[in-house]
Amino acid sequence: MPYPIIPIFDQRLPKVMQSHGQPSNPPTDLLQDLLGRALRELRISVTDRCNFRCRYCMPRETFHTEHAFLGPSQLLSFDEITQLAAALTSLGVEKIRLTGGEPLLRKNLETLIASLGDLRTIHGKPLDLALTTNGSALRHQARALRAAGLRRITVSLDAMDEAVFQRMSDAASSSARQVLQGIDAAVQAGFEQIKVNMVVQRGVNDDQILPMARHFRRMPISLRFIEYMDVGGSLGWHMAHVVPSTEVLECLRNEFELEPLAPQSPSETAQRWRHAQGGGEIGLISSVTQAFCGECTRARLSPEGQLYLCLFAHQGHDLRQLLRSGRNHDEITAAIQAIWSGRADRYSQLRGQDSLTQRLPKVEMHYIGG
Ligand code: GTP
Ligand code: 5AD
Ligand code: SF4
Ligand code: SF4
Repeated sequence: MPYPIIPIFDQRLPKVMQSHGQPSNPPTDLLQDLLGRALRELRISVTDRCNFRCRYCMPRETFHTEHAFLGPSQLLSFDEITQLAAALTSLGVEKIRLTGGEPLLRKNLETLIASLGDLRTIHGKPLDLALTTNGSALRHQARALRAAGLRRITVSLDAMDEAVFQRMSDAASSSARQVLQGIDAAVQAGFEQIKVNMVVQRGVNDDQILPMARHFRRMPISLRFIEYMDVGGSLGWHMAHVVPSTEVLECLRNEFELEPLAPQSPSETAQRWRHAQGGGEIGLISSVTQAFCGECTRARLSPEGQLYLCLFAHQGHDLRQLLRSGRNHDEITAAIQAIWSGRADRYSQLRGQDSLTQRLPKVEMHYIGG
């Protein structure tokens, strides 16, 4: 994908840089896109590979043994990722979430976590560093990830029942039990926050809503129910497969007494609830029925250094080419600034209205990390 323009260096960028080329003084005029949205969060996909074959993300008929995944020279190195993360934090990024594919398949990930942990926000604070994993390797890696400086972790788990788990994840080498052991290991390792993500599909795992809620209720965990989205990779998506959050809430409230919680930040993806009698939290992610594009401050970096401005984008912006052609921190920061300034994406708000947007091929979920 061609990179459109190399923008000229923007004079508004702070000139005094620290070790990773980060600003020592925060800029006063913060970057905004065409819809007035700042750049606050970065999701970094570190690999396009995964050991699961979730039907809604990497169906085995497409992602079979012959499928060509990215090779080592195509992947950004940890140093390149850190350089880009430094440029993005100079523009306002405060939160970084590592994703995949399955991020724990990337060797020595702790090294990357430690180097991202050295970055500072424009206000001089440490970054909020998190990771989303399928949990299959977590029982072995939780402690090392925490020790490397990872603060928060999210584990995807769509079912407690092993048969339903297998039907969704198509991962014979893993099991719900193994993922649950990974979650227990994360609790033991002392993460600041642990979330569990369940993508709910009508007729597939909606009977798992209550068993999941019962299991996690007494644990220090936020269990989030996610509306199934029509992202790239989701075969034959249809609105009839989506269980609206309102329905999930109704189901939960038949059994539990729940109280709404105030949002912690405007760009939060989940509406949060807590059990009135104490215990864990519940989150509802209504990305289909109540789009949150108006507050979307997220950018996404692919494993090969394409910057995507929307989960449903058709095209990315090639930052690896800038890095490998020797552009310095200021030039890369200026390029990203120009890219973000031209952003107008709001796919979920337009879903069903704009037929052209619907028909164009979207980036694959396993490539961009959700
Ligand atoms: P926090 O950093 O803790 O706020 O986590 P998060 O909720 O952003 O991340 P997570 O990886 O747990 O994603 C939860 C669900 O929300 C997944 O299904 C994501 O695909 C979805 N999601 C996250 N960001 C966006 C977004 O910008 N747009 C849409 N449509 N969905 C998103
Ligand atoms: N719709 C909603 N969420 C999805 N995820 C993957 N594919 C979809 C989809 N089609 C979730 C994963 C993971 C998070 C990053 O995105 O289960 O928890
Ligand atoms: Fe792997 Fe996550 Fe995609 Fe499932 S949803 S195939 S665990 S990347
Ligand atoms: Fe952001 Fe695109 Fe998701 Fe809307 S659909 S919230 S613009 S990533």
